[in-house]
Amino acid sequence: MTEPNHNPPSAAQPHAEVVRALIARHGAQAGALLPLLHAVQDALGHIPADAVALIAEGLNLSRAEVHGVITYYHHFRAEPAGRHVVQVCRAEACQARGAEALMEHAEQALGCAQHGTRADGAVTLEPVYCLGLCASSPAMLVDGTPHARVTADQFDRIATQLKVLT
Ligand code: FES
Repeated sequence: MTEPNHNPPSAAQPHAEVVRALIARHGAQAGALLPLLHAVQDALGHIPADAVALIAEGLNLSRAEVHGVITYYHHFRAEPAGRHVVQVCRAEACQARGAEALMEHAEQALGCAQHGTRADGAVTLEPVYCLGLCASSPAMLVDGTPHARVTADQFDRIATQLKVLT
């Protein structure tokens, strides 16, 4: 059972300090790499390049192994995200119900290519692969909040509320 996290590392701490604290917390558990990477991204918003070496050393892995896991999972970011994060599902059920058109609309409406962050830092647009809302596809997450059966008009309304529509 996981112990409650009473003292989450603060993003105001230098990256290395945060990463070392998280290695100390998670490093001893079996299969520590994935939980540690999640914890680092939760704390810092991304997994900075300098964290890879610390994590590799802390878990007695090679940098290539750590880097391989980070790049394998779409969830992990090597760069900081924008102030808002829009994640459009590109998995099968959503693809069958218009996800491709929705993603194209999102790119145009936000002025931002998928996998990218707009130059002003306002928004990051990412594909994700199944949000568990397949019966209500196409689906997306906006700052962690799920939205189902998303139409272009609904997308624009949400983007307008966030002040990220171009
Ligand atoms: S395929 Fe998109 S929510 Fe499952």
